[in-house]
Amino acid sequence: MSEANNNATSRREFIKTTGGIAAATAVAGAVVPHVHAAEDNTIQVALVGCGGRGTGAASQALSVKNGPIKLVAMGDVFENRLTKSYDGLKGRHGDRVDVPDDRKFIGFDAYKKAMDCLKPGDVAIFATPPTFRWVHFTYAVEKGLNVFMEKPVTVDGPSTRKILALAEKAKEKNLKVGVGLMVRHCRGRQELKSRIDDGEIGDIIAIRGYRMSGWRGAGPKPEGISELLYQIQKFHSFLWGSGGVYSDFYIHQIDECSWMKGAWPVQAHATGGRHYRGDAVDQNFDSYAVEYTYPDGTKLFYSGRNMAGCPNPFASYVHGTKGSAIVSTHAHAPGKVRTFEGQILDDATARDPSLARDKAKMLWAYPQPEQNPYQLEWDDLIDAIRQDLPYNEAKRGAEASLVTSMGRMAAHTGQIITYDQILNCEHEFAPGVDKLTMDSDAPLQLKEDGTYPSPLPGLVKNREY
Ligand SMILES: NC(=O)c1ccc[n+]([C@@H]2O[C@H](COP(=O)([O-])OP(=O)(O)OC[C@H]3O[C@@H](n4cnc5c(N)ncnc54)[C@H](O)[C@@H]3O)[C@@H](O)[C@H]2O)c1
Repeated sequence: MSEANNNATSRREFIKTTGGIAAATAVAGAVVPHVHAAEDNTIQVALVGCGGRGTGAASQALSVKNGPIKLVAMGDVFENRLTKSYDGLKGRHGDRVDVPDDRKFIGFDAYKKAMDCLKPGDVAIFATPPTFRWVHFTYAVEKGLNVFMEKPVTVDGPSTRKILALAEKAKEKNLKVGVGLMVRHCRGRQELKSRIDDGEIGDIIAIRGYRMSGWRGAGPKPEGISELLYQIQKFHSFLWGSGGVYSDFYIHQIDECSWMKGAWPVQAHATGGRHYRGDAVDQNFDSYAVEYTYPDGTKLFYSGRNMAGCPNPFASYVHGTKGSAIVSTHAHAPGKVRTFEGQILDDATARDPSLARDKAKMLWAYPQPEQNPYQLEWDDLIDAIRQDLPYNEAKRGAEASLVTSMGRMAAHTGQIITYDQILNCEHEFAPGVDKLTMDSDAPLQLKEDGTYPSPLPGLVKNREY
């Protein structure tokens, strides 16, 4: 039995034992004895990457209600981010945040030091920019730690191959791994998936996804920060850091649409371009239009845009031979999932079905209010750890990240890109990301004209920049 498994077993035993004591005590009317073993039953958590999402994920971890849990270590490359995160978490969770100064770590090796505070069976949270995911996951698997890691978990072909291999090792060690594609844990979407599988809207003929906003890329680097730290701070702007906005933002809908379809797309054909740049120096396109093809020929039409002054749909829809469904109405939560007899027309119909009553009759709607999927993904992970249930989302997370990169590469190169091509692509965006120090050069260098290399579809065809 693995160490992690052993630990989970003792937790199960503990729950049984303490349950027994409490029941017996109630009968006898005696005082519940102090249970020293409670300490062993505590799941310890380390947070690596103390920004917005990391702080949120730690807070959700500490809010799981099925047993003692505490945050014991934190790591970041920016001290001010760690301090802000610590102050917020401490204020909200009090004693469950047990992170004295000597368990707060700053630097590119902070992840090791933070995880060294854990024992097998505890949980490490990775919420740094995605480029570091395989580096941190490697160490967690080596140490026998359970993991919650934010999406995307890879940014290119080489990092996907690394995470897929690590996913196998984690499985062999019976580690529990959650990946922050929280929509998969939304109870409404889960019911929608069963309804689609049961044929409520017939055979799927097309799927649509949209994520649009006025997001702006990073401007030129200011004085007082190194090139490396600037690119890390502005990771959405640089493909090595995050896979760009395409990977970092669009993965959710590409994943939820593919989940509804029950397959990963096998190829992508795409257009995209840069329009109004202002002083933005990032590597992203301003718009993306991608046609993904599933193994049976069904298409997912995905549109992304980063441009102010336009409508900003953030939604996904499935169309079937008998009807249609809304997977996301606007943003991730609440999903407000619904099915219709007939076809939903457009975004307005999605928001207000009464607008299309003659064309599409609503069949079913998930009851409101919905539970928060960011909490549900933690409830599910901690439950699996305490009960030692199989739980490993790493492979699925890597596949979702890969098909997302497939669409991005298709737009950036102007070529049709297949699943095998992106998986076997040799362009590694950040070789040596595991060896970075505060003094390292950034993986992306400015060109002589002061701009960063950007995609040139049709001109550069086998790599994105
Ligand atoms: N599931 C979701 O809906 C969701 C929402 C937001 C963000 N995210 C994901 O969470 C991750 C973080 O995003 P964010 O919005 O919190 O960004 P952020 O910039 O607020 O936080 C990232 C933190 O990681 C730190 N960091 C960077 N490199 C590090 C390293 N090598 N070691 C330790 N710390 C390091 C940064 O200093 C920063 O504090 C991304 O992968 C993002 O896609 C997911």
